[in-house]
Amino acid sequence: MLPDFIVPKANLTAHNTLGLSASAERFARIETREQLAALAQHPDLIGQRCFMLGEGSNLVLTGDFPGLILKMALKGRAWAGEDDDFHYVTAAAGENWHDFTQWTLQNGYPGLENLSLIPGTVGAAPIQNIGAYGAEIKDFLHELEAFDLTSGEIRHFSAADCKLAYRTSIFKQEGWHLSGRYAILRVLFRLPKRWQPRTGYGEIEAHLEVRGIQSPTPQQLAETVIRIRRAKLPDPAKLPNAGSFFQNPVVAAELAAALTGVHPGLPVYPQADGKVKLAAGWLIEKTGWKGRNLGAVGMHEAQALVLVNRGGARFADVQNLARAVREAVFARFGIHLEPEPIFL
Ligand code: FAD
Ligand code: EPU
Repeated sequence: MLPDFIVPKANLTAHNTLGLSASAERFARIETREQLAALAQHPDLIGQRCFMLGEGSNLVLTGDFPGLILKMALKGRAWAGEDDDFHYVTAAAGENWHDFTQWTLQNGYPGLENLSLIPGTVGAAPIQNIGAYGAEIKDFLHELEAFDLTSGEIRHFSAADCKLAYRTSIFKQEGWHLSGRYAILRVLFRLPKRWQPRTGYGEIEAHLEVRGIQSPTPQQLAETVIRIRRAKLPDPAKLPNAGSFFQNPVVAAELAAALTGVHPGLPVYPQADGKVKLAAGWLIEKTGWKGRNLGAVGMHEAQALVLVNRGGARFADVQNLARAVREAVFARFGIHLEPEPIFL
């Protein structure tokens, strides 16, 4: 007999912010580590495909899932110590990311303010090394704890083990995010005692100037980021979406220089390794897809990188629009766009 916290045939529509309908063969809400241990040892679940689910804000459901969805709902957050340079704070995987960032600020541990309002859970944040407005969790993650469903053991990953880089990590590089090998249980962050505001992202400076703020507090920076985000990113509760639908392409400096020669307005972001990140939203806007619909989906009118579900969309609609946008960007700029969310 399967543990009674596993339910058969679950509807996933409310579990993905893009609002696609699909079902899972089995579904379990995980609130304790003991539940995971029971699953790892269960003879009827050997060979069963698993998928860890957070809040489904980076997910494209391609159809019904023939396996077990583990909705990671472990809770808890706490101060975990300090040294000369850092405060250490920890949060369990099922904590809401934004609530956690605001809790750190309220308790006097700044650092995560630029990452305010990113949807999803703490446990999902390392998977694609969430980032926004000049910060990434790579800058703050100290270590994480994960449960290995194949061995039933707990493994600790240091920041270096996680191999965090733009929108990726060891979990994506090894395909564990799709094979469901590791359930992240909790993440430990180190937040600097000598805090410095990160105002380098152009729009932040402009907003602070309008508000007449020269030396922002962490809370003021968080408010600024929240305002910017609300102005252009659609709220999934009102207009279903999965955030940026494509990654910003990272190309060789020579190619970026050639492109900006022809298209002087193209925003470019030089990277530490000499490559250059391009703004996919700008490329999409220039092809004319910003604010345009195809079937039941469209590219958002305030942010061309965000694919939105206008109501009742199916995976085929998403595929058709994504293909059309990719082809248009390739035809105009010779650049291949890669999707950003996880396709399940
Ligand atoms: P899910 O979508 O449920 O899952 C994402 C991946 O994480 C899956 O592979 C899943 O298996 C894995 N996962 C989830 N929990 C665990 C766990 N405990 N253990 C192991 N694996 C797990 N992202 C950014 O980086 N920057 C942004 O600015 C940003 N803005 C967004 C704005 C909007 C409006 C939306 C809808 C999304 C945005 N995103 C952004 C994407 C999204 O917020 C992040 O990817 C977030 O980390 C997803 O969290 P989630 O809990 O919803 O994960
Ligand atoms: N732009 C346009 N037209 C558009 C959209 C953007 O010209 O329709 C231009 C902007 O004017 C700006 C540049 O492109 O010059 C960058 O735009 P923005 O600051 O909005 O950020 P982005 O590059 O489109 C990335 C992340 C976001 C993150 C923001 C802020 C990716 C794939 N996306 O978007 O993350 O919030 O930067 O840091 O890297 C997500 O991952 O889901 C996400 C929303």
